[in-house]
Amino acid sequence: MCIRDRFWIEPSEFHQFAESVSFCKARGIPVRIVGRGSNLLVRDGGIRGAVIHPAGGAFTAVSVEGNTITAGAGVRFKKVASVAREHRIGGFEWMEGIPGNVGGGLRMNAGAMGVETFDQVVSVTFLDEDTEIRTRSRSEIKSFYRNVPELRRNYALKATFTGIPSDLDTIQERLAESRHHRNSTQPKAASAGCTFKNPEACGAGRLIDEMGLKETGVGKAEVSLEHGNFIVNRGGASASDVIDLIDQIKAKAKEERGIDLETEVRILGEDEVVF
Ligand code: EPU
Repeated sequence: MCIRDRFWIEPSEFHQFAESVSFCKARGIPVRIVGRGSNLLVRDGGIRGAVIHPAGGAFTAVSVEGNTITAGAGVRFKKVASVAREHRIGGFEWMEGIPGNVGGGLRMNAGAMGVETFDQVVSVTFLDEDTEIRTRSRSEIKSFYRNVPELRRNYALKATFTGIPSDLDTIQERLAESRHHRNSTQPKAASAGCTFKNPEACGAGRLIDEMGLKETGVGKAEVSLEHGNFIVNRGGASASDVIDLIDQIKAKAKEERGIDLETEVRILGEDEVVF
């Protein structure tokens, strides 16, 4: 495969998305779905095959019914939080500071402030492995901490979330709390969010902090001073700088604490560009 065999596809309707996936599958072209890419680390050689980026149309539609919000995979979590506030629906405040989209959040079971995406899911509409569009209710989907195995090969198209009736003051207060926690504990510099999943023994951020790794770096990639689980880009860091730093942290955690750190950030793509 060479650089000419790389495709970027932006469907805006579910049937276009389904057709794009079928087209690629029929030709043996590998497919990756990329939303905002906020929790991704793409190796320096880029992604082989087709990248499908849901954009606009049905993917950015949002509707409200009672205390439920239905949002397309391309809707930002931030937007869901603001729609919830407009309609006085509580429980969505934690989404305000999440940089990703609904699609990525579902795939990862993203979370913050003690809440996870699947705590609020009522149903998910997805494209299954046979390229059929289906809807499944929450009870039919297994979700784990930062992992929803079924959404590895089935691609989320939209989801319905539930909240609780609330008043504007309570929502504003909770939004402010969430914003304050994030601003006071997480870096503003460019990063891919939390690098590692929290192991059972101890939070990954605290562990990295305790091992004295803050501000250590490779090239322009550096462990954040604000939060040990973030690797920030000090300008022009390559993916391989970040991956080397990840490997160093993992080795030290294993050696010093016997802990196997697992990345939360998804690492994809090729090491080298082939022309
Ligand atoms: N801590 C340290 N040193 C650090 C970082 C944290 O001692 O460098 C301590 C804090 O003082 C606190 C504890 O560790 O006592 C927990 O820290 P924090 O509240 O920041 O939570 P976390 O477990 O490190 C998780 C999620 C974040 C989410 C925050 C806030 C994971 C891997 N991380 O972090 O999610 O924003 O809670 O709710 O589950 C992400 O998923 O990308 C992410 C950033």
